[in-house]
This record gives sequence, C-alpha cells and structure tokens, in this order.
Amino acid sequence: MSERPYVIDEMISAKAIAARIEALSREIRAEFKGTDKLVVVGLLRGSFVFIADLVRELDLPVEVDFLEASSYGNAMESSREVRILKDLRGEIEGRDVLVVEDIVDTGHTLTHVLHLLQSRHPAKLKTAALLDKPSRREADIKADWTGFEIPDEFVVGYGIDFAQRNRNLPFIGKVRFTE
Ligand code: PRP
Repeated sequence: MSERPYVIDEMISAKAIAARIEALSREIRAEFKGTDKLVVVGLLRGSFVFIADLVRELDLPVEVDFLEASSYGNAMESSREVRILKDLRGEIEGRDVLVVEDIVDTGHTLTHVLHLLQSRHPAKLKTAALLDKPSRREADIKADWTGFEIPDEFVVGYGIDFAQRNRNLPFIGKVRFTE
C-alpha cells in the first residue's frame, strides 16, 4: 500500500498546533494546579511529538511515562481488538494521571486504555487528544481536552504515520493518492 504514490497536503500548520497546545495547556494547568503527583502518560507511538510539546507548555511538575497499545496494523482499517504492547514503568495508584493521545478515531484504544488504568485506582484520570474524528466513533468516549476535531481524512505527521513513515512532519497533513 505504501508503494501507491501520494502527496501530503498541509491540513493543520505547525503554528496552529503550537497555538492550540498553548491554549490547552492553560486549561490542563488549571485542572492540575497544586498537584505534585501528575503522571503524563503518552500512548506510543503516535503521541510522542504531542506529549513532548505539551509537557513543555504545562509548567507543572510532571513525571512522563509511556504505554503502547495497538489497534491498527499497517492497514488503514481499524480493528476492534486492542493489544497492550508495552505497559507503564511506574505505579499510578493514588496519582493524578493525564493520558495523551494523538488521535481518537473509533475510540477503542482510548476506551481500553482508560479501563485498564482505572483498574489501578489513580486519584484522577484525564485525557488529552490532539485530534478527534467524531464521525468514526464506535465507542462512546471523548477526550477531556481535544486539540482539533477533523473530518474523516487520512492524516499524517506530527507523530502520526502512514505505514511508519511521515511521523516527523512538523504539521498535520492529509494523504492524497495521485493514482
Ligand atoms: C493509532 C492512534 C491511536 C489509535 C486511535 O494508533 O495513535 O492510538 O490508533 O484509533 P482508535 O480510536 O480507532 O482506537 P496505532 O495503533 O496506529 O499505533 P501508533 O500510535 O504506534 O501509530
């Protein structure tokens, strides 16, 4: 599939992403103000760019941890089965936790991850997603903070891949096949 020629059209600029993250950070900071317990959990791999920018804007004492779940393969179709490929390094019982996701699509990944983390009894469990595709939703879930609601386009960049490529684009782009 990655052999099929395509171009990437910019959809959300790096500047627009930075401005949105600054605004989200203000709200998140207000929510967690005063806590000395915040654990920011990035869902690998797609969230690695977003979490890096978000934690630097938060201006709160944070610990950073990662969890890897997978619901897509290299195929574009999402499967309902969510597998945990890599678990957290730290304990979250009694901690304030912010889960950071690059995109909520069907919602199965976030639903599964929240269910898992809730079973470990955090003091508070919140979620931030850079992108949301509400038209694709199958599970009844919405992140507490969303960067941008987008239509059902095939997006890449700013951490999001197409067959493991294009994660390093500084903007969110839309894949357009040329053949
Ligand atoms: C993508 C994305 C989200 C999830 C969203 O991850 O990063 O985690 O799918 O899909 P859903 O709402 O339909 O469950 P993917 O499994 O492609 O892994 P990656 O982050 O390593 O690219």
